[in-house]
Amino acid sequence: MERNKLAVTINQAVKRFGKKEVISNISLTVMKSEIFGLVGPSGSGKTTFIKMIAGITEATAGIINVLGTNMPNLNGMKKIGYMAQADALYGELSAYENMDFIAAMYGLKGAHKKKRIQDVLALVNLTEHQKRPVHEFSGGMKKRLSLAMALLHEPELLILDEPTVGIDPVLRKSIWEEFHNLSKNGTTIIVTTHIMDEAEYCERLGLLRDGKLLAIGTPEELKAKTSTGKLEDVFLMEGAVQA
Ligand SMILES: Nc1ncnc2c1ncn2[C@@H]1O[C@H](COP(=O)(O)OP(=O)(O)OP(=O)(O)O)[C@@H](O)[C@H]1O
Ligand SMILES: [Mg+2]
Repeated sequence: MERNKLAVTINQAVKRFGKKEVISNISLTVMKSEIFGLVGPSGSGKTTFIKMIAGITEATAGIINVLGTNMPNLNGMKKIGYMAQADALYGELSAYENMDFIAAMYGLKGAHKKKRIQDVLALVNLTEHQKRPVHEFSGGMKKRLSLAMALLHEPELLILDEPTVGIDPVLRKSIWEEFHNLSKNGTTIIVTTHIMDEAEYCERLGLLRDGKLLAIGTPEELKAKTSTGKLEDVFLMEGAVQA
């Protein structure tokens, strides 16, 4: 079973910027086709941590293995679809041209490329807007285009940094249905979020605070550790909580 295989193994990962330790000795495994959510307050290290997994930021110490490859590694990165928290789009190009650029990077060609681009644009409701230059897009539209770009090459591992911020609840729901479909078909998903219902959709959550992984568990398990049984109170849990 795919399920029993490891997708990501992180062993005592540390990240320092100068003297400041931003990620402190985190060990974590994520299984193939799992949807793992990373939650925690602003500045707790979520983006830094997932950039380390994606191979964009190198760990100061420790080992990060993604699908059998120690990161950072260019071949490892090809198996990953990464959606940044801040948009990484070309404003002068149309949505389609942005997609085409990414498609070329991943070696997609011909009819298959065209179909993939249309499929993912439809998924994020941007079909009608594909010819417009991206600098005319709203924040939510840019976010949706970034998500489409991360999905384009059908990566084995999707790493998404707050993917649905600025996306309305109806579209957010359909995007999450797609995440679950992808997961059923073997895609592993690591997602950071501040949004409660999104955290509920994850199979397991990790709570990050000051660069430390304070707790790991299913949403139900984490809720059971709070006095109120509410997921928002998991976000507020103090340092005494152990994984
Ligand atoms: N390149 C960098 N150089 C120095 N410090 C950095 C750098 N990148 C991040 N940091 C610091 O690392 C800490 C964690 O930042 P990070 O962006 O990972 O947090 P986050 O949990 O993603 O926050 P948010 O929810 O606001 O997106 C912050 O204190 C930030 O200032
Ligand atoms: Mg962040």
